[in-house]
Amino acid sequence: VKVINSAPELRAELEIARKKSRVGFVPTMGYLHQGHLSLVDIAKQKANFVVVSIFVNPMQFNNSEDFQKYPINIERDLELLQSRNIDLVYIPTVSDIYPNKVKVTLNPGELAAQFEGEFRPGHFEGVLTVVSILFNQVQPDLAVFGEKDFQQLTLIRKMVSDLQFPIEIIEGPIVREESGLAMSSRNSRLSEDGKKQAKALSFLLETFFKTLSEGNNSNLRDLKKLSINKTKDYYPAFDLEYFEIVNQDTLEKFPDDSKSSEILINSPRGLVAGYIEGVRLIDTAGF
Ligand code: PAF
Repeated sequence: VKVINSAPELRAELEIARKKSRVGFVPTMGYLHQGHLSLVDIAKQKANFVVVSIFVNPMQFNNSEDFQKYPINIERDLELLQSRNIDLVYIPTVSDIYPNKVKVTLNPGELAAQFEGEFRPGHFEGVLTVVSILFNQVQPDLAVFGEKDFQQLTLIRKMVSDLQFPIEIIEGPIVREESGLAMSSRNSRLSEDGKKQAKALSFLLETFFKTLSEGNNSNLRDLKKLSINKTKDYYPAFDLEYFEIVNQDTLEKFPDDSKSSEILINSPRGLVAGYIEGVRLIDTAGF
């Protein structure tokens, strides 16, 4: 697999490729797993020249310990990508992405103020800034992002629409371990027991949507309380940060007194975040 380490080199390579190919792009922070590879497979189906970037973006980490501990294994990543037969891996340096010390950044707007944005101040400013820089460098026809980071996916779609990037955004479904745990590079920091406890996130979502669909017309406040309590009983090591039910198109929260029947017909999506063994994990499910 061809590896490119600088922005000018990338520009030169892509100038040729773009003339005859539809360019697909999968931005990542590396430490690849089956979830990333499923995004690569989608890009391969939709484009005939596929670029994957690996860049652990310092700007999107609000917590320096999380950044320091972010797992890296480029050699293994390259082996995995080699097996997918992609065209280019772009591994820029920090100065390729941020050539200036003082920089212009992207304001993600109101949709970023809640959920992930509330608990990780500055996170989405960092994500949208790096994604827009990578989009300008790669200039893909399409880019694939995972459903697991649902708020990120929504904000990237909004950025592309509001700032009129001529790029099609494609969603890749969550890939889960057999246990139900959503795949994430951060899972590698969990012990075996931690991985079992981390099933809490998908369990909470499943329990909530099961109870919601049983349709006894309870209100959202009670349904949430019931599913959170059940999850805490089964997974005591899970430290819940937030669990919200939103409309999946607008990310607007349903009011606490909404009835299950109203929620069910309005494209509900659950968003959950929490800690296991000090590792922050997120998950999501729609209905
Ligand atoms: O989802 C990720 O891995 C990152 O947020 C992204 C989109 C690669 C930007 O750094």
